[in-house]
Amino acid sequence: MNVPTLTLNNGVTMPALGLGVFQSPPEETAAAVAEALAVGYRHVDTAAAYQNEREVGEGLRRSGVDRDDVFLETKVWVSDYGYDEALHAFDKAAGKLGVEQLDLLILHQPATDRFEKTLAAYRALETLLHDGKVRAIGVSNFMPHHLAELLDRTDVVPAVNQVELHPYFTQPAVQAADAEHGILTQAWSPIGGMTFYPGWGEGRRSVMDDPTLREIAAGHGRTPAQVMLRWHLQRGRSAIPKSTNPGRIAENFAVLDFALGDDELDRIDALDTGVRSGPDPDVPRPERFDTPVPEA
Ligand SMILES: NC(=O)c1ccc[n+]([C@@H]2O[C@H](COP(=O)([O-])OP(=O)(O)OC[C@H]3O[C@@H](n4cnc5c(N)ncnc54)[C@H](OP(=O)(O)O)[C@@H]3O)[C@@H](O)[C@H]2O)c1
Repeated sequence: MNVPTLTLNNGVTMPALGLGVFQSPPEETAAAVAEALAVGYRHVDTAAAYQNEREVGEGLRRSGVDRDDVFLETKVWVSDYGYDEALHAFDKAAGKLGVEQLDLLILHQPATDRFEKTLAAYRALETLLHDGKVRAIGVSNFMPHHLAELLDRTDVVPAVNQVELHPYFTQPAVQAADAEHGILTQAWSPIGGMTFYPGWGEGRRSVMDDPTLREIAAGHGRTPAQVMLRWHLQRGRSAIPKSTNPGRIAENFAVLDFALGDDELDRIDALDTGVRSGPDPDVPRPERFDTPVPEA
């Protein structure tokens, strides 16, 4: 079954559901990507900072699926912010992935303590877009005030804003700002990944155990993860669940043959706690600039 596609603001189409590879160990990444492509995924989200772009490329080649049939998305890390640095970040990413062109290149997060460098990096993405090296450009973890400044001071409206988004943290203000500017919202931790990593916060509840989600899932004979992914798709978002487990890779893709009712979508929206699980994009973390992205 084909995944629904979303049309970005520059006309490029993107499969709504993709495989995420954050914290996928390099030695498991190629197998996970090949497995996902065999199951039917046609979109992979990686990042320079994940240090597994090379293995994503290897998985793509191992799968036998045509390069042109797969939507490859990656991110420029903050230590490569600045105009020349971000241009070079493209060369590093494309080289590791083993491709000539990227489908979507995004800034990993706003560097709020060095916003001028963030803007310069975005201008490099505009150049890469103009030169045909990337098919679309975007951002990640941009809050409405970051977006407003970016839109004010650069030319190309981002195609995508990838942010933390799951039933416990739905970011309505970000979604509204994205929609206002024709920016597609893409959900990271779409099934609540950050809510159940051990050590990410005392007393944090896993969204997977939520009684409402469990009840809705039972009603459809599905799992909570499948219900969450279905919710993203029906709300018009892209979602990029991560798994390196073949059974869960398949489970997360098997969401195209059922539908949630409007009341169920509303009940899931109402689970929002307003509390993020991942890092706050407005808290400066200058130490990130000390982590260089290797050349090869
Ligand atoms: N832009 C950013 O700053 C940012 C931040 C975080 C993530 N991301 C992107 O978003 C992707 C997804 O986010 P995420 O990895 O944080 O969280 P997630 O996809 O919501 O959850 C991943 C976690 O859930 C487990 N899992 C996967 N499928 C499952 C299922 N059906 N049932 C139960 N558990 C399941 C995975 O373990 P197994 O592997 O063992 O299945 C993993 O521990 C990342 O891989 C990355 O591409 C971006």
